Amino acid sequence: MKKSDNSTITSLFEPRSFAIIGASQNPKKIGHTITRNVIEGGFTGDVYPVNPDGGELLGRKVFTGIGEIKGQVDVASIAVPAKFVVNVVRECAEKGVKHIHIISSGFSEVGNIDQEREIVQTARAAGMRVLGPNIFGLYSAKASLNSTFSASAIMPGSVAILTQSGALGIAMIGKTAVDNIGLSAIVSIGNKSDIDEADLLSYLIRQEETNVIMMYIEGVKNGEALIETLKEATLRKPVIVIKSGRSARGAMAAASHTGSLAGSDAVFEAIMKQCGVLRAESIDEAFNWCKYLAFTPRPRGKKSVIVTNGGGIGVMATDACEKFGISLYDDQEILKEVFEPATPSFGSTKNPVDITGGANSGDYIHALTAPAASEHMDSTIALYCETATFDYENLTPMIRDTYKKHAEAGKPITYAIVGGESVDKSINTLRKENIPVYGDVYEAVSCLSVSYRYQEYIQGHSRRFDEIEIDTGKIDSIIDTALSEGRKFLLSHEGSQVMSLVGIGIPGEKVTRSIEEAVEFAEKTGYPVVMKIVSRDILHKSDAGGIALDLEDREEVIDAYEAIMHNAKAYDPHARIDGILVSEMVKQGVELIVGARRDPSFGPVVMCGLGGIYVEIMKDITFRGLPINRNEAMAMIKEIRSYPLLLGARGENRKDIEAVAETIIKVGTVIRKCRRITDIEINPVMVYDRGMGVKSVDARILITEKKETDQ
Ligand code: ACO
Repeated sequence: MKKSDNSTITSLFEPRSFAIIGASQNPKKIGHTITRNVIEGGFTGDVYPVNPDGGELLGRKVFTGIGEIKGQVDVASIAVPAKFVVNVVRECAEKGVKHIHIISSGFSEVGNIDQEREIVQTARAAGMRVLGPNIFGLYSAKASLNSTFSASAIMPGSVAILTQSGALGIAMIGKTAVDNIGLSAIVSIGNKSDIDEADLLSYLIRQEETNVIMMYIEGVKNGEALIETLKEATLRKPVIVIKSGRSARGAMAAASHTGSLAGSDAVFEAIMKQCGVLRAESIDEAFNWCKYLAFTPRPRGKKSVIVTNGGGIGVMATDACEKFGISLYDDQEILKEVFEPATPSFGSTKNPVDITGGANSGDYIHALTAPAASEHMDSTIALYCETATFDYENLTPMIRDTYKKHAEAGKPITYAIVGGESVDKSINTLRKENIPVYGDVYEAVSCLSVSYRYQEYIQGHSRRFDEIEIDTGKIDSIIDTALSEGRKFLLSHEGSQVMSLVGIGIPGEKVTRSIEEAVEFAEKTGYPVVMKIVSRDILHKSDAGGIALDLEDREEVIDAYEAIMHNAKAYDPHARIDGILVSEMVKQGVELIVGARRDPSFGPVVMCGLGGIYVEIMKDITFRGLPINRNEAMAMIKEIRSYPLLLGARGENRKDIEAVAETIIKVGTVIRKCRRITDIEINPVMVYDRGMGVKSVDARILITEKKETDQ
């Protein structure tokens, strides 16, 4: 796993000298714009434009090559066509440049992987870090450095943006200007050939100027490092992510259920949640959340109150609160005491508090000042529907005033105001002042809800993780046997052996090699029993007629033994048959699936969900990046839609949920510690009543020769 080195990244954001290679006199060229933005943006370090023609540009001497510069160059921005970049990178390496930004396109994004690799190798050999290629540059408020080729000026502030899409990033700069959002940094990461999100986050989470971090991600390359850094980041400041590409196509090709269920987006979503990252669905939503989290105090408690002048909009807000899990304060006596002075007799002091359509700005000031001052309420949702009787000219000042009162009390408030042109004008004015006013109830409540979600994550978070002791030597020798026979999977009884080695209950079973042996074991175990062919050449046992269920007595076992052997030989006359597995017929319980795999982006992940034959149809599953602790395993179980089945549906007993959590921990430990196992899938895990444990009915394990390098 690659570790980010914060000390080297500091000089990327806070360089003392900056060179632009490809600095052109032509104002239409990118190299010219970057040079102008660096100089006019107020960068106080040394600026070195580089162009073979030399001369002077924007009042600065132009160097004909990077080698001609006498002083240290902390960062060089390269804006020359792709075909020249490798040479320029070599020159930078020789000069001892610390970081390069490669603006140029034309590398891995168009299939030119070799040159991109060569650039990284050259840079690494010289201890130089690479941002890009295919980027628009970087803005860092701390260094007053604008080395982007954006047309808009960038306002300094407290929001940091990392973006994989250059065009979207440039558009975001424009949007921040319109929305009056100040930036502490914006960085374009492009192809992420070397520096990635984890490296940049490692700096931004310690940088005091940054309050909120927003990331636009298309794909994750080094997911394990990202998980580590995000977990650290979200404990210090909120991180919002927008990710495009919800397709699970790549994952569908994977060999196991776990593989196909672990659609890249499902894993991404689960892992972001696990790391406390707030995932937004759209750019607007992400910006709304950013602003809200940057400028509005966080709630200290759960009790929220809705104040409205209209019943309908109040009900909509109540619905939104339920959807987002915001609790509404419910003590009728206190609500009456706090809101009665601002509520007419035909209004309602119940929550939502309805001060009615006749309310004017004075009534609103009264009603919204009350929760700011009340020790019983922690947050306020203020709603306004345009009415003819309202003194409109006072709407904007009323919101300003009540927002200030909440801010002074250290309490969050969010406003939804609905109406015509004049209401829109109010929204635009107030949003420029960073007051959280929206034209839609859902948006207003969504912003407050992320503040709650973030707060809850911080409070409930623990960095502890749980694993069990396992004898990897014994599991290794099972894997060695399978590999020596040319198999990339374990046979069913080998899977059961692994389960039994880590203490996961399995049905009593034995591979038998004669009718007598099969009968003897069945009599000892007790009827009914199940019989299955054991052959490395027969993967689909049912297709081969190699399974017999529910065998009630000695005669049925004898008949089944003969039938299975006959069917298997007819199915594949050359199949090598190791015997017939006789196992206890497992009694019914709630059928879950528990699995684990090595995700190509995030490394080892564990999965739990509703099992049985409908697993892929129901897709009622949840994931976590490993390692996890028992509380997180319990949280996974509670997250699945079928959780009520485990609580005991229709008068049934509560099931052994703790044993399921323990199974998740055990399976997670196996995938982390046995590095030649790529996939584990137990389906079904039969879950019995509380205290009665679980049983792994069928454990499928895939293996590989090479040891995966995680942990
Ligand atoms: N050292 C110094 N200067 C050099 C060198 C060198 N080794 N080689 C060439 N130059 C100079 C050129 O002489 C030229 O200067 P001039 O105008 O004085 O003649 C300057 O560098 C630029 O070279 P051009 O050949 O004119 O290239 P141009 O500026 O047209 O394009 C660029 C270069 C911008 C890097 C282009 O190749 C490119 O990749 N564009 C895409 C950039 C991009 O979009 N990146 C992703 C951003 S995100 C988004 O999508 C918005």
